[in-house]
Amino acid sequence: MKNRHMQQFVIDYLCGNVLEDDTIIDATAGNGNDTLLLARLASFVFGFDIQKEALDNTKSLLEESGIDNFKLILDSHENILNYVSSFKGVVFNLGYLPKGDKKITTKSSTTVKTLKNLTAQMKKDNFIIMTCYRGHEEGLIEANEVLDFVKSLDDSFTILKYEHINRQTTPFVLVIEKTK
Ligand SMILES: C[S@@+](CC[C@H](N)C(=O)[O-])C[C@H]1O[C@@H](n2cnc3c(N)ncnc32)[C@H](O)[C@@H]1O
Repeated sequence: MKNRHMQQFVIDYLCGNVLEDDTIIDATAGNGNDTLLLARLASFVFGFDIQKEALDNTKSLLEESGIDNFKLILDSHENILNYVSSFKGVVFNLGYLPKGDKKITTKSSTTVKTLKNLTAQMKKDNFIIMTCYRGHEEGLIEANEVLDFVKSLDDSFTILKYEHINRQTTPFVLVIEKTK
């Protein structure tokens, strides 16, 4: 129940903001649920993950769904700009692969480095949407460092945080829009 609100917020945001001509990046493809939604909404989706198992799962899900407007890249999201120079939006779902190895999780240093690179490249009307999980140790460190970084961005960005105001350890969603 508690994560459903966050997932639904992300789905509603993507359905309201991704247009059929857009190129979108799924920075953490995982089992492919977000990649599938994005491929249905956008013109083309690039999916990144550091685990072959994750990209295999994503590929199977999309192919079973008859989707072919995607490319999967076995590399860290730190290197997104080596593969894609122009995008409408980037989606992050941080943490570890559900039902996978919990030790292989997104890390604060790489996530903040990627955010620095992407925000430096963003043009007006580009967005990043990121779900942060603070219920495990590395996730809490990462969530706090991500918050510190986004608070440092200038006012050409509009940044929103969607969270439960009476829960300390549930996930929250950040939206970073380049509005100027
Ligand atoms: C919570 S899962 C993503 C779930 C996915 N969005 C879905 O819909 O199924 C997080 C994923 O991030 C991946 N990951 C961890 N570090 C990464 C990195 N530096 N670059 C890209 N992916 C990474 C993990 O391998 C894992 O599959």
